[in-house]
Amino acid sequence: MAAASSTTSRPAAWRGVIDAYRAHLPVSPATPVVTLLEGNTPLLYSKALSRRLGEPFRVYLKYEGANPTGSFKDRGMTVAISKAVEAGSRAVLCASTGNTSASASAYAARAGLRSIVLIPSGAIAMGKLSQALIHGANVAAVDANFDVCLELVRTIADRHPVTVVNSINPFRIEGQKTCAFEICDTLGRAPDFHLTPVGNAGNITAQWKGYREYHKAGRTGGLPVMLGFQARGAAPIVSGRVVKKPRTLATAIRIGNPASWQQALVARDESGGRIEAVSDRQILQAYQRLAQEDGVFVEPASAASVAGLLALAARRYFRAALRRRRNRNEPVLLVCILTGHGLKDPERAIQSIRAPRTLPPDLKTISKAVGLQ
Ligand code: F0G
Repeated sequence: MAAASSTTSRPAAWRGVIDAYRAHLPVSPATPVVTLLEGNTPLLYSKALSRRLGEPFRVYLKYEGANPTGSFKDRGMTVAISKAVEAGSRAVLCASTGNTSASASAYAARAGLRSIVLIPSGAIAMGKLSQALIHGANVAAVDANFDVCLELVRTIADRHPVTVVNSINPFRIEGQKTCAFEICDTLGRAPDFHLTPVGNAGNITAQWKGYREYHKAGRTGGLPVMLGFQARGAAPIVSGRVVKKPRTLATAIRIGNPASWQQALVARDESGGRIEAVSDRQILQAYQRLAQEDGVFVEPASAASVAGLLALAARRYFRAALRRRRNRNEPVLLVCILTGHGLKDPERAIQSIRAPRTLPPDLKTISKAVGLQ
């Protein structure tokens, strides 16, 4: 074989998270890998947010919206669907605020499985609904919130031969932990702080599992402090009480009784972290800021991590943590997880700014309207 010259050599093609992290996942050579080449998402340095925090802080954004169906769910779904196929399952079932159903129906389509999804009627973003429908899912829009849908899913699964692919399926958690692996591989170490939105709490559970496993395997020397953020009107973990009627414009995390509640507390407490609430106003501000200062379009729920970062920074939380460090000159690395793509919910973007007025095709009027005069 001819040696590749420097101009023609390319890195090996990415083959999805199961291929990349096989040694850390519950798969064998017999597992039929169902993948859309998820993972390997950008870890973007944010100049604007790093500046806002000041030296020695460096803020990175893990853009999970770049996954094939536009959210982090694909990492868990490749493992859950592959294992479902391996076990001979014919149909998968989930309750969802939108992204899980989008991902489940896409991976099920690829595997030739039937998908059934229960969604809270009128409460999921249009992009996500369009995904479930076009991938051929049987969609039940239920007149109830997500928590009720998940209870129904548990009951249906007791009575019918279907595989549940919500994060109560442990294979989902296994796949989602690869986000932590990628962050460590890219940074060359674990970050000091890991900030993430919290809804059903599967993701924070998975991420903490990933960091701990990499640490145990000797791949990293340290562990991050885990910081989770719920929306104020849907913050059961923060208040310590189930929220019967969760309210927030961040529909993806409109959840009042998270399935992985206990594991989220473990992640918080083992890492010395916090789970806090951010208001819809703070979420929207972070949402616009990410789009306008970093060029990154996320869905509102995803901006909860950055809203939390800004809220904690305003309270000088990170500065206080700095005082406890031995080497104060070393950069402090913070990673905000941006869980889903902004195009999932374009209506919110337009509402949150202002739709453009229609103008006559007149140069003078247009120049004035676009600020060129
Ligand atoms: N961000 C987005 C965009 C989500 O879709 C979700 C959860 C979360 C954050 C929270 O993650 O539940 O693991 O704590 N969406 C689920 C769904 C509930 O059905 O799509 P979590």
